[in-house]
Amino acid sequence: MYLPCHLCSANLLAGCVAKPAASKAALLESAAAGGSAAGLTRSDATTVPLGEGSALMELSSHFRRVTLEVISQIAVGYNPEQANVFPALFEAVLDELNQRPYKPWRAFLPHIEVPHRRRLAQMNSLVGEMIASRRAAKASATPGTGATAAAPAPAAASSASDAAGADGNDVTAGAGEGGGMSVNGRAIFEGGKGDMLDMILESGVELSDKQISDELKTQLFAGHETSSMLLTWACYLLAQYPQVYRKAQAEVDEVLGLPGRSGEPTFEQFRNLVFLEWVLKEAMRVYTPVPILNRECVEADTLDGHPVVPGTGIVMSVWALHNSAALWGEDVAQFRPERFSPEETKGRHAWSYMPFSQGERNCIGQNLAMMEAKVVLGTLLRNFALSLPAGQARPQTDSFIIPVRPHDRLNMIVQRR
Ligand code: HEM
Repeated sequence: MYLPCHLCSANLLAGCVAKPAASKAALLESAAAGGSAAGLTRSDATTVPLGEGSALMELSSHFRRVTLEVISQIAVGYNPEQANVFPALFEAVLDELNQRPYKPWRAFLPHIEVPHRRRLAQMNSLVGEMIASRRAAKASATPGTGATAAAPAPAAASSASDAAGADGNDVTAGAGEGGGMSVNGRAIFEGGKGDMLDMILESGVELSDKQISDELKTQLFAGHETSSMLLTWACYLLAQYPQVYRKAQAEVDEVLGLPGRSGEPTFEQFRNLVFLEWVLKEAMRVYTPVPILNRECVEADTLDGHPVVPGTGIVMSVWALHNSAALWGEDVAQFRPERFSPEETKGRHAWSYMPFSQGERNCIGQNLAMMEAKVVLGTLLRNFALSLPAGQARPQTDSFIIPVRPHDRLNMIVQRR
């Protein structure tokens, strides 16, 4: 079951992204500032203070937290404190799953497999409890059902918190309610009201708890790593191409206003970052987050004159498409966001570019992903200057991991403006 209209609807997007992503961008900012407005002082595995309000940061792990927080607010209405529950569980599970394709023997090593399975079980029980308590809360709110209300998210979160804590992770589940907000009269994120779980339960389609749990986990997984890699590569490319960076910076300063001298930017202002949108699109062309797509042929067909029988597996290289000089010109290897200007887009084949796939199974979160990336990157550029440390080699990418990510730590210098 999918909820494309909800995710793509501009109205709901305004609520989904404007509030959480702006506060998540602030989260990145406070990560960069080490919790101190005065400077970048905290040191951990991903942030090394350099003094004078600057730090060497491994940005992708910060972006991952930000995007996971956004999607957990959208999917299950978690506020930032409650959303802390997810990284401890999901990041560890994802990291292990990402290693499996090229280290399959890990599944046979008990000291790896046992904690992995325990985390999977914790994750399933967390999501399961959330569904059960939300169902119970809805039933008790409906007169005549006779059901008893159960305490919703905090109960589920605290059990996950206990479980994750047992795993040695620093997990705290806040019990506070998400801030109330309404878009076109519809309340969203008021203690979980109007989130994806609500939409599923209110859709009128009868789904088992297992089906709903699978749906939520798909959203939570599909909806954060891809976006965090888009942001990581966009920052890297901007730092690599100073001319493009200057243009993006000028637009951000003009549209959002300088920090400290104007109020918090509005959703509308972020929408107006046209060049930044081209930057993000071009970043997804150069570093295509999902470089291959798999399909199974369901009926007999021909491909370039070759017969294809039903059941044949087809692998499409989106990376090859995005790096084709025939489609993109001789400067295909250059990072040039103007490719996405209306003048240059006109006449280009619609299927030349498909970072979100195309057709029936394309990405349902693409509008959300673009808006989220604009808010986070726009806020970052507004407040910080990004550069690469001297001698930073061109990052190698992992061949078997989707989304495409740097093989080694990709550090960048983040300097308060
Ligand atoms: C830059 C960010 C993102 C990229 C590049 C991306 C890319 C993709 C691609 C290429 C597919 C199709 C996979 C295939 O056909 O095999 C896909 C599917 C999907 N994406 Fe995204 N995605 C992004 C963000 C998101 C977000 C934020 C969400 C959640 C809200 C999301 C949810 C999904 C889901 C649920 C599917 C499966 C759709 C289906 O099977 O019908 N994605 N995504």
